[in-house]
Amino acid sequence: MREVTVIRRLVSTVAIFYILGYTMVLLLARPKENLMCQTYHQGSVLYPIPNFADTNEKDMVSRFTWLGNGGYSLPYGCRSKERVAILIPYRDREKQLRILLSNLHPLLYRQGLEYRIYVIEQADTKPFNKGMLYNIAFSEAKTDNHTCFVFHDVDLIPENDQIVYNCVRSPMHRSRAIDSFNYRLPDRKLIGGVSMWKKEDFEKVNGWSNLFVNWGGEDDDMSYRIIMNKLSIFRFRNNVARYTMLKHKRTPVNTARYQMLMDSPWRFKVDGLSTLTYIPPTRENHQLYTRILVRT
Ligand code: BGC
Ligand code: MN
Repeated sequence: MREVTVIRRLVSTVAIFYILGYTMVLLLARPKENLMCQTYHQGSVLYPIPNFADTNEKDMVSRFTWLGNGGYSLPYGCRSKERVAILIPYRDREKQLRILLSNLHPLLYRQGLEYRIYVIEQADTKPFNKGMLYNIAFSEAKTDNHTCFVFHDVDLIPENDQIVYNCVRSPMHRSRAIDSFNYRLPDRKLIGGVSMWKKEDFEKVNGWSNLFVNWGGEDDDMSYRIIMNKLSIFRFRNNVARYTMLKHKRTPVNTARYQMLMDSPWRFKVDGLSTLTYIPPTRENHQLYTRILVRT
């Protein structure tokens, strides 16, 4: 009888140690949420960048396995330094949008960023108002708790992995070297194309102007906002910040822009985020992006 009890005790002690040990192993092997995510720069064979081949959404959804609904990605097993919102103003450029998404998602994933891509679509036939779309996109994305905002033209494709989409510096002009400008920066004040902003800096300049429609001028106006608020523009090196501009029909040019730019240095206080009004937009979670449909 005594022997049976001893054996039972022995078995239960071993079992307890086994369970304890196993729990320890599980705990130790858990992803360390405190580890900062790393960037993996090596050009991938699976997802070369840039890639100008057209593809379809279904194909992208099946390949970009890391994506959550709404074009959202949360790195696994590490903590992203920032929560990045990519804002793409849009109307009638389906093919360009597909090509941009097929390049951006793999690049952002490799950079270990927590991000969401927003496509902000002008749902009216009025002249295209990129500045206003950007302001609305910012206001909407802000409610999702982002720390870093990227304003991204739909026709600019990053050419290399080292254009890190984070906000270590702000404001930062990313599209410094564009093929159609012979990879040269045309003007040191330029902020148009792709730029990244910390929330506080973007609010400090009162966002973009809401008044520039059609092509041109809204970014020149932003240059004045930056100067007047004593901010400086940061950039990557010329051989890093390279982009290809996709070809498209020239949109109508804003011929009034030079006239409008005359009061830009003073207008920023009374035109921008502070004066933005719009009807609450429709928000749809697509698999590759969060779509925001809005009337200007
Ligand atoms: C336009 C800007 C544009 C720049 C680039 C200017 O004339 O007003 O919108 O970014 O040219 O060349
Ligand atoms: Mn363009």
